[in-house]
Amino acid sequence: MSAVNLSNIVKRFGAVTAVHRMSMEIPDGSFVTLLGPSGCGKTTTLRMIAGLLDPSEGDITIRGKRVNDVPIHKRNLGLVFQNYALFPHKTVAENVAFGLKYRDVSRADMDKKVKSALDLVQLPQVGSRYPRELSGGQQQRIALARAIVIEPDVLLLDEPLSALDANLREDMRVELKRIQHQIGVTTVFVTHDQSEALAMSDRLVVMSNGRVEQVGTPEDVYNTPASEFVARFLGTSNILDARCTGLDQTTARLAVAGIGDVEVPREKTPHLDGEGAAKFVLRAEKLIVVAGDAPTDERVSLEGVVEAVDYQGQAARYFLRSGDVRFQAINMIDERPFGEGQTVSLRFRPRDCAALPEKTR
Ligand SMILES: Nc1ncnc2c1ncn2[C@@H]1O[C@H](COP(=O)(O)OP(=O)(O)O)[C@@H](O)[C@H]1O
Ligand SMILES: [Mg+2]
Repeated sequence: MSAVNLSNIVKRFGAVTAVHRMSMEIPDGSFVTLLGPSGCGKTTTLRMIAGLLDPSEGDITIRGKRVNDVPIHKRNLGLVFQNYALFPHKTVAENVAFGLKYRDVSRADMDKKVKSALDLVQLPQVGSRYPRELSGGQQQRIALARAIVIEPDVLLLDEPLSALDANLREDMRVELKRIQHQIGVTTVFVTHDQSEALAMSDRLVVMSNGRVEQVGTPEDVYNTPASEFVARFLGTSNILDARCTGLDQTTARLAVAGIGDVEVPREKTPHLDGEGAAKFVLRAEKLIVVAGDAPTDERVSLEGVVEAVDYQGQAARYFLRSGDVRFQAINMIDERPFGEGQTVSLRFRPRDCAALPEKTR
């Protein structure tokens, strides 16, 4: 059974349609991320699942039960938002216990549950402190403990790491994943941060303008984007106009502007449904910049020139030109990157490319 099911959900705010006919299924026990740019409708979707907003159309079911008319406190959900909103005048233990207050839980059970929630977030010692005595990261863990102490059917997290600084954010995402794994709670996580989404999710739902662009594992979505929007939103891609001139079981033959014919394996072009106008997608890290014209293997090789370099320590981002076409490449580097103005070869393997139909909607 799916933990949460959205069926043709629409949400209008006056003249603005924030969510357009969204359907999705969230499998029991999974970690699903709604990923998309600011304003695409992630929070609105999450708030409808939570019961904080009513959908204008469509049905929401949780564990097989339609919940459109079930108020938030009867949905058995755990919620964590970006601003953790702990009660400042309550101790940590009182904050965590808050969700249990209106449930039929004995004092002794309550203490036990609070203790085990604090253990789970690895802050067993802070129960008698006040939120202001904790760091931002610790406060966010307490907010998480408060959400999970009720043993929710679904955990809803809206950009819970955004307020933390970069290093702490990366630690917390490992931590959050560990906790989710340990208790196995179905989790819907909202973020606009692609690396967070790729690192944490069993399944990604990429959204733009209130619509679902693509659903899949992080690897699927990254390697075989279903639309130009997805290809541009995740990672850095070279996207070139192309024509599909032949499509069979094993291969898609593409005539790519500025490159020529490239034969891409069919499993890298699952969204291509016939011959005709297409887009060719080459990830920046799959385009290898080498000196001179070293012998080529199965790779396609283009002559190019380095127009600009963004040195990043272990890697470099190159802005390149080959004929009339501009490329970006992100390569690990040994010591020094190639310099501006240098003539280089650009290499890629056809099996590292993807292709999309010209119009995906
Ligand atoms: N209460 C509201 N009234 C009017 N418009 C809203 C309201 N809440 C959200 N919106 C609009 O709905 C769209 C989606 O917003 P939101 O779900 O917050 O996006 P996200 O969380 O992806 O950044 C935006 O265009 C936003 O301006
Ligand atoms: Mg939001």
